[in-house]
Amino acid sequence: MTSETITAESAGTWKLGDLTVNRIGFGAMRLPQIGTALRADAAPSDRNQAITVLRRAVELGVNHIDTAAFYFSPLRSANELINRALAPYPDDLVITTKVGPGRDPSGHWLDHATPEQLRGQVEENLRQLGRDHLDVVNLRILGTASIAERFGALADLRDAGLIRHLGISNVSPEHLAEAQAIAPVVCVQNQYGIGVRPEYDEFLRTCGEQGVAFVPFFAIAGAGREAGASGADGEEVLAVARAHGATAAQVRLAWTLHRGPHVLAIPGTGNPDHLAANVAAGALRLSEDELARLESVHHGGA
Ligand SMILES: NC(=O)c1ccc[n+]([C@@H]2O[C@H](COP(=O)([O-])OP(=O)(O)OC[C@H]3O[C@@H](n4cnc5c(N)ncnc54)[C@H](OP(=O)(O)O)[C@@H]3O)[C@@H](O)[C@H]2O)c1
Repeated sequence: MTSETITAESAGTWKLGDLTVNRIGFGAMRLPQIGTALRADAAPSDRNQAITVLRRAVELGVNHIDTAAFYFSPLRSANELINRALAPYPDDLVITTKVGPGRDPSGHWLDHATPEQLRGQVEENLRQLGRDHLDVVNLRILGTASIAERFGALADLRDAGLIRHLGISNVSPEHLAEAQAIAPVVCVQNQYGIGVRPEYDEFLRTCGEQGVAFVPFFAIAGAGREAGASGADGEEVLAVARAHGATAAQVRLAWTLHRGPHVLAIPGTGNPDHLAANVAAGALRLSEDELARLESVHHGGA
């Protein structure tokens, strides 16, 4: 399933607030470096290839790109690449960014951001992307502490017109309820995939019932996390892939889209062939029997 003619429209659409996006999107975390993401000593990617991938993504119908100011290697920034490749931006392009614990200029992680630092991060994203407002901003957190003060700070920026819609990331159902008492939440971005965090199954369903998009990350990378996909897929996933003439990565992506119409995929890649394959995965329809077999892999943790 690598047809270049399959576009992101094949996965259907979802509305983030008033913004309609195709359910197959793109994650920009892989663009700034070769190999493991978010390392201070990462080897910078080839700028022209990264720009080619971004432009091809839009040509293939991708209109939802996930990014962050802290996605950078020593010489490349995801936001700068997006700006360079895609500005002036297509009217229907939705760029989702995230703020929270950031990285200092040398690439080392910082602590939780204060409300004032969150404003600075929003402004940093605006500068790098060259925009006057951000379409969607996720508050990314670590741990279980209350997010009321930090989410409230972003709600103020939304009221001020710097942000159109808000989301939250790395969160629990309790965080969602806490945030919704402050301002509307259009998306939850959490780690999820076949065999990855099955304990989020219920949360994913709850999001759907509330009209909140669930946006999984590491759907392909799985346990490889920032290091990327290991390619070590179990026999069940490979058998489903073979039956469709697809790859295991495509099955992993398609499976997330089958979890509900509110699930939005944001696969990350710096490879143009993988990009086309990921977009094509939006057209992959899994049978009830295949879904049942993958469900048992999901709960077995394979
Ligand atoms: N909120 C958060 O805390 C958080 C955390 C992590 C990520 N994110 C977001 O979520 C996005 C998705 O995560 P991710 O980038 O790790 O994506 P992913 O899609 O789960 O995995 C990417 C890995 O899989 C490989 N890959 C991608 N497509 C492939 C294909 N068709 N066949 C084989 N290998 C393939 C990539 O390598 P190649 O480059 O070689 O294709 C890379 O190693 C990120 O880009 C970022 O925007 C958010």
